[in-house]
Amino acid sequence: MKVLLIGSGGREHALAWKLAASPLLGKLYATPGNPGIAEHAECVAIDMRDHEAVVYFCRDNAIDLVVVGPEAPLVAGLADDLIAADIPVFGPTADAARLEGSKGFTKDLCARYGIPTAAYARFADAVHARDHVRRVGAPIVVKADGLAAGKGVTVAMTEAEALAAVDECFSGAFGIEGAEVVIEELLEGEEASFFCLCDGKTALPFGTAQDHKRVGEGDTGPNTGGMGAYSPAPVMTEEMVARVMRQIIEPTLKGMEEMGAPFTGVLYAGLMITRDGPKLIEYNVRFGDPECQVLMPRLKDDLLVLMKGAVDGQLAHMSARWRDEAALTVVMAAKGYPASPEKGSVIRGLDAAKDGDVEIFHAGTALRNGEIIADGGRVLNVTALGRTVTEARDQAYRAVDRIDWPEGFCRRDIGWRAVEREAEGR
Ligand code: AMP
Ligand code: GLY
Repeated sequence: MKVLLIGSGGREHALAWKLAASPLLGKLYATPGNPGIAEHAECVAIDMRDHEAVVYFCRDNAIDLVVVGPEAPLVAGLADDLIAADIPVFGPTADAARLEGSKGFTKDLCARYGIPTAAYARFADAVHARDHVRRVGAPIVVKADGLAAGKGVTVAMTEAEALAAVDECFSGAFGIEGAEVVIEELLEGEEASFFCLCDGKTALPFGTAQDHKRVGEGDTGPNTGGMGAYSPAPVMTEEMVARVMRQIIEPTLKGMEEMGAPFTGVLYAGLMITRDGPKLIEYNVRFGDPECQVLMPRLKDDLLVLMKGAVDGQLAHMSARWRDEAALTVVMAAKGYPASPEKGSVIRGLDAAKDGDVEIFHAGTALRNGEIIADGGRVLNVTALGRTVTEARDQAYRAVDRIDWPEGFCRRDIGWRAVEREAEGR
């Protein structure tokens, strides 16, 4: 098969690495790709916002499957345009991508189908939103409705913070996305990420993970795209997975199908495991980044076969098997991330760091005069397998320490919750 992979981050490098292991793969293209992805794919320059150009490339190169990594092209309808041109695509249509593109849409779906989630209200103007905040009081969570690159959520511990967040949403800080806000109850418990491959009708559980969103050790400081992750998530026991499938995922797929927007691709449920059971925090319509980087090394089965199965509506007849080992990834970021990462510094020692069960996925790198340089905020994902999360963590940090990149930094406590659990024998 000839496959076109869309994206340029660590998530897409992990996907390229796993796709390249498939005996079914004839040729892999990636756009725009990165120097790590280029080890497995021919990187081509196509403007992914120009859907006609993507369709043209696929026709010209007889592409059998397009795999879309990030959410923005999906919300913008790239899958719709590929489907209209008879080109198979792994990823949801724009209507189905509303599960990530509109928080209000998802909350309404939850209400209609009895899916457990935080109690909420939607507002289209600041006056009513402010009244609501004053009536309910803090703590309370304020969210801009649309895609805001992870910046649209404020977990407000005081009323003043919540009111400021409402004003920020309606000030246009998040573009037109802030034209509506969702205000919801604060959920307490342990967060976990749960993934499913979906073919429109059937959802196949596809792994669990936990990530660290804050930039600083002890989960402090500003929010980021994720500074590290590990898989599996200890809270996602077999029983919990079954419950989430029954109470959250299956009603969602049914609801999407009933409204004429069946969901195909990977559905990523951000969950809070509360005292009353699992509750949906939010959906994403693509793999997590860096969660994908810890799922792929654990997947025993052929990713390409599974993605093809999703596109062909065959998941009811398929399964996914996982290695028993834990995987952990440490994000190395350029100093200054997330506010203003410095670009252009040289990274050395990557080959020496990559031994045993270690993979280094490139997230934001470029090539300059034959050398790898930092070209983004999150730059490398140093990923290791181990019998336990503790062993995977030790192995990952040994590799981190072999990388010669003084201008980079990482958190030293990735996996701390699972490591503590393991130390206590829980
Ligand atoms: P999101 O951008 O929706 O993933 O939200 C970012 C983070 O905010 C989540 O990962 C949670 O840690 C937190 N969060 C969002 N909604 C809630 C909620 N209702 N209760 C508690 N935490 C939340
Ligand atoms: N790591 C969180 C995300 O991909 O949204």
